[in-house]
Amino acid sequence: MMTAGFAVGAARYRASLLGRRGRCAGGGGAAAGSVPESATVTAGDRRLAIEARNGTGEAGRLPRSYAACGISRLWRMSDAAIRRCAEPDVEAAAALLNLTSAVESRTWWADRLRQPGVHAIVADEGGRVAGAALLGIVPNFRGQLPIGLAVAEAARGRGIGTALARNLAGHAATLPAPDGGIGMVLRDDQAGGLRFAERLGLAPTNHCIGWIIALADAAALRESAAVAAARAGVRLAESTVARDRERLVEATAASVAGMPSDTPMDLAAFAAAMPDDGVLVFADDDEGTAGVALIRPDGAEGGWHTSYTGVAVRARRRGVARALKLGAFAAAAGHGGTTMHSENDERNAPMLALSEAMGMRRGRGYWSLAAKRLTRP
Ligand SMILES: CC(C)(COP(=O)(O)OP(=O)(O)OC[C@H]1O[C@@H](n2cnc3c(N)ncnc32)[C@H](O)[C@@H]1OP(=O)(O)O)[C@@H](O)C(=O)NCCC(=O)NCCS
Repeated sequence: MMTAGFAVGAARYRASLLGRRGRCAGGGGAAAGSVPESATVTAGDRRLAIEARNGTGEAGRLPRSYAACGISRLWRMSDAAIRRCAEPDVEAAAALLNLTSAVESRTWWADRLRQPGVHAIVADEGGRVAGAALLGIVPNFRGQLPIGLAVAEAARGRGIGTALARNLAGHAATLPAPDGGIGMVLRDDQAGGLRFAERLGLAPTNHCIGWIIALADAAALRESAAVAAARAGVRLAESTVARDRERLVEATAASVAGMPSDTPMDLAAFAAAMPDDGVLVFADDDEGTAGVALIRPDGAEGGWHTSYTGVAVRARRRGVARALKLGAFAAAAGHGGTTMHSENDERNAPMLALSEAMGMRRGRGYWSLAAKRLTRP
């Protein structure tokens, strides 16, 4: 199915073309005998404009001159203005970008939108934020500049996403090419979003399966964690990212082997991106740190998220991860958490087996996508 653009009066329309070429009698600017790529159609047919609004126009109801061109459907294109995201837009823009995240991430997006130097834009439709996009300036732990883009459900199919993507691609072209390219994360139940991202030149690098579990009572979890820790020969200790960021980097470096990754990870950047109030659970034995779990509130009522669980290569397959997971569940429940989410790369067999063994059930996951540079749609 091809599409073409038209204007009727001041409003612009996107038309589905059946692919056949007919005689176009309706358009002032339409060349007779061919489907116009773009034309000003002064049809004077108000009914057409009304029926076409919200994509309700159908071939049978369109004037014969349109059907003759092979036009089966019209959408009214948005007249939204693309402008910089200002403080009053942040909450609405973060709520839209959150639609692309596997777990509640409004606070995270709001922080990114407010970051000095970030390229953050919104599509303003009559004073309402109908879409939002950003191109970050701080590379993520894969060395990629992150982008995000979302359009309100009610405003989709009218060209807003393309307008935002064009703006991002135009801005990206003015920056020096980032070492790791451009990266995007997208919730895995958004098939349309994935196709849209692919049009921008982004290709999936990996898929992470989502997991969720309802947390039991903190005291019961603490007890189970203590039993598991004794069996694994470790002691569990709780800390925070603010207090132990350096130790988090060391413990991650000692335990990251085996985690599938297409691009080398920058562990210092990973630790730096973690919020100060992130909670760490360390597993210690006589040789030092045997493993670490990093959890944080995800912003939803009672929602917690596991950002990382890793066991030093020397301490694997003796139950340390099981103890860490239970310790992390207990810590979250102790801070008022009622659910824990996590995501694991679908190629990470040990981690998938661990999540299953912990009684977690499958939830929403995400795709990671990357591009050397963005294609202007
Ligand atoms: C995944 C990982 C944390 C497991 O640590 P571990 O201490 O060896 O795991 P445990 O000994 O506690 O195993 C608990 C359960 O997990 C599953 N499991 C763990 N490792 C497994 C493996 N290599 N193969 C299959 N199942 C495995 C099993 O169900 C196991 O129970 P069992 O021993 O009774 O069969 C560890 O391999 C690791 O650190 N990997 C690299 C870091 C990583 O990928 N982290 C995920 C990013 S969030």
